[in-house]
Amino acid sequence: MVVNDAHASLQKDTVMTDTTAHSALFEPLQIGDLTVPNRVWMAPLTRSRSTAGDNLQTPLHALYYAQRASAGLIVSEATQISQQGQGYAWTPGIFTDEQVESWKLVTDAVHDAGGRIFCQLWHVGAVSHPVFQPDGKAPVSSSAWTPKGEAFVGDRHPDGPTVPHEEARALTREEIDAVVEDYRHAARQAARAGFDGVELHAANGYLIDQFMRSNVNSRDDEFGGSLENRLRFLGMVIDALQEELPANRIGVRLTPIGGAGGSSDEKPEETYPAAAKLLAGRGLAYLHVVRATDHGGADGERSHGDDILQAMRDNFDGVFVANGNLSPEQAARWIEEGRADAVAFGRQFLANPDLPERIAQDGPYNEPDQDTFYGGDAHGYVDYPSLKRPGDPLRAA
Ligand SMILES: Cc1cc2nc3c(=O)[nH]c(=O)nc-3n(C[C@H](O)[C@H](O)[C@H](O)COP(=O)(O)O)c2cc1C
Repeated sequence: MVVNDAHASLQKDTVMTDTTAHSALFEPLQIGDLTVPNRVWMAPLTRSRSTAGDNLQTPLHALYYAQRASAGLIVSEATQISQQGQGYAWTPGIFTDEQVESWKLVTDAVHDAGGRIFCQLWHVGAVSHPVFQPDGKAPVSSSAWTPKGEAFVGDRHPDGPTVPHEEARALTREEIDAVVEDYRHAARQAARAGFDGVELHAANGYLIDQFMRSNVNSRDDEFGGSLENRLRFLGMVIDALQEELPANRIGVRLTPIGGAGGSSDEKPEETYPAAAKLLAGRGLAYLHVVRATDHGGADGERSHGDDILQAMRDNFDGVFVANGNLSPEQAARWIEEGRADAVAFGRQFLANPDLPERIAQDGPYNEPDQDTFYGGDAHGYVDYPSLKRPGDPLRAA
């Protein structure tokens, strides 16, 4: 692919020595046998540009991710593990063989450009809509629960692109086991697709969070009530992933506060550090924690959420990745102060394909265009200029 060659040369002749105060971001990290060359990671970003119906990736996705291959690690956009797990229009899947083949375009392009990419494994639970469900019926969750807000159904519903959420139904015990098997299958598929690892999406109020959060989970069996019970599903999914992949190829994402559907927990300062503890001692690749309450992020250097992050870091024994409204300067400081080992950037990576190179030379930065975040075509996706391509010759690719 011409595109890959362009990126391979971009990697080779880009000097990533830091001329500014960000040098902490450019120390390599070793995660088992995986060398991560810097601490500027790309956060998972749903862009809703997969093919309608089949939820496949295309050469456009390969270009987008290859452009961002200088990230220490790319975490892919959230990717549904099953049809039941889809909750937004045009998001990719990893459960069919056709989807695996389509993802190979992406993983090959990223590797050819010198990068590394993990697949974010996703089940939205209640934040779905009957139009996405294989049986056309209610979405599933830990409990009967109706998320706040609207489902992004695109063109799958005559009243779209958004329609109100409908009440989800509680998974039965047998169905819980079946969903765990879907995660296991997706992990296998991700390995077949050439991903370097997976990130379990246990964040943002989606299915795993719907088990963890006390204000959603009203079960009275071994999956509800006590904190131990609410964390049981997370533990089962991680156990299954570890049976399929080496532990150092499995990361986990958690968000103590905020997320889709307005779900919440009565005591996030207890629940999330306990989740971090459950994940410790397993040799996992990393724990990735979002400090922001929403995409806008938390303001200021320290908040209640940041205290929870610190408690989570203290309870986890591996690489700790922070994310959420952190400037490159703050990110470097977090690493210097030992508050994180790496920092993931969402919107800044979306708009700056060569974010590490830009940070290393202290900018300038492109501004993200919110109007093109979700859905659409190449515009706002692969046409953000890089330092080496100010005129953006790839626009025509
Ligand atoms: C367009 C967009 C799509 C996102 N998609 C995902 C996603 O697929 N999975 C996820 O865990 N978080 C997702 N997020 C949250 C980001 O990963 C990140 O946590 C958030 O943008 C805050 O980080 P930032 O301040 O660096 O942008 C998304 C955010 C945005 C703006």
